[in-house]
Amino acid sequence: MKARMPAAPFRLVVHTLALGALALTCVPPAAAGGTSAKVERGAYLVKAGACQDCHTPWIMGPKGPQPDQSRALSGHPADAKLPPPPPLNADWAWAGSGTMTAFAGPWGISYAANLTPDKQTGLGAWKEKDFIATLRKGRHAGDGRPILPPMPWEALAHMTDADLGAIFAYLQSLKPIANRVPDYQPPAAAAAK
Ligand code: HEC
Repeated sequence: MKARMPAAPFRLVVHTLALGALALTCVPPAAAGGTSAKVERGAYLVKAGACQDCHTPWIMGPKGPQPDQSRALSGHPADAKLPPPPPLNADWAWAGSGTMTAFAGPWGISYAANLTPDKQTGLGAWKEKDFIATLRKGRHAGDGRPILPPMPWEALAHMTDADLGAIFAYLQSLKPIANRVPDYQPPAAAAAK
């Protein structure tokens, strides 16, 4: 009985601390510096989804080729001058540029898009619903021309609206990079180039 006497105030302190911690974890992260749980989820999905493999130009680094983080997710560089692709055939059916952002194949030549929120050259003017429709239907901006290989939209179409929305929120949180990616070239134009 004697031993229980000091226990009550002690328990009160513990409860007060626990409530304090609970209150801290309940503060919406957005209030503390602009990153929300949605943006963080999007960052995680973009990393795990390998978007940078094609949407960031690759350069030679100390450990070999690596995505150039100063141009992260800004797509095929507008100033990269590429010669025509090598001859392709049924055995070697497609080719990729050293930047990992341009792809020649039976579909012509496709260039990875600028996913940063630049208004003129990236996704700055897009709404979340356009982004989700694009990846679900494989159509530019949700209802335009078909999206060409090797953009893996069929795989991304399996994501939930919440996850695609999170990816969009993360992309919109990036620094806008002005980079006008060339229009894709259909097969005839690609061959004549
Ligand atoms: C294997 C290469 C590759 C990977 C990986 C890849 N993309 Fe793409 N993506 C492309 C190419 C190439 C295009 C352009 C296709 C075209 O012009 O038809 C494209 C186009 C897009 C577009 C369409 C933009 C528009 O203007 O219609 C969006 C959005 C997009 N990618 C988002 C993503 C996201 C998000 C990821 C990661 C989850 C990703 N991509 C991963 C190659 C890739």
